[in-house]
Amino acid sequence: MSTVHITQITDLHLGSDKSETLGGVTTFDSFQSVLQATEAHGRADNLLLLTGDLAGDCQPEAYQLLNQTLFDADKQALWLPGNHDDVETMKANLSHYPQRRIYEVGGWGILLLDSSKPNSPGGHISDGELVFAEQGLKQLAGKPVLVAMHHSPVLVNSAWIDKQQIDNHQRLYQILEAHGGVKAVVTGHVHQHNDSIWGDIPVYSTPSSCVQFEKYSADFALSAQPPGYRWLDLHADGSLQTGVEFLKDFAQRCDQSCVGY
Ligand SMILES: [Fe+2]
Repeated sequence: MSTVHITQITDLHLGSDKSETLGGVTTFDSFQSVLQATEAHGRADNLLLLTGDLAGDCQPEAYQLLNQTLFDADKQALWLPGNHDDVETMKANLSHYPQRRIYEVGGWGILLLDSSKPNSPGGHISDGELVFAEQGLKQLAGKPVLVAMHHSPVLVNSAWIDKQQIDNHQRLYQILEAHGGVKAVVTGHVHQHNDSIWGDIPVYSTPSSCVQFEKYSADFALSAQPPGYRWLDLHADGSLQTGVEFLKDFAQRCDQSCVGY
């Protein structure tokens, strides 16, 4: 079995048309530039893993735009919802990309969890989702597993966004740890590159494809860092390599006087 090549793109915040902006950045342009960068970096054929906040405000047109863009670019993609998404609207509009929650490829399992909580920016794993995680991991017994979800189970040392940490992360950890083969968790939501450890499990948070949040900030603040993405190579022996790339030639700069999103 050969290595599975994955590109994680997260927190796209697409709007109902291509001109929508977040913090002064046109989110469709930045997403397109990230896709182009992955191709320039030799990752055109990677499986895309889209980890939530694909729309800025659950707009059906945002998912339609994403659906068509990915389809036209001949991409394979998995997705999960974030706090700015609505899963039913996603399912209805991402017509070329039916929702997959357990994906087996190259001897690996990828488990996609929904950490969103109704009417809240914070993370929570519902009772139903905990049962799904337990059952999914039974199905993936004996395989190395990559878990993907929107919110972080660990702190990133920014007080305002750390309030949105998955509130019942201990219960989820017990379930993941019991499998014995969960090699890493990847998240979005925090709009920054953060590599951490959660008990015995590495947690990799990934910069947004549009604007980044200032690291180690008590309150909401945007960073001058450009759009980015993460690559993951899942090897047949169960080992994993990963890294983050930021765009080097993206002309738009965010408005650092922005006070919220
Ligand atoms: Fe989010």
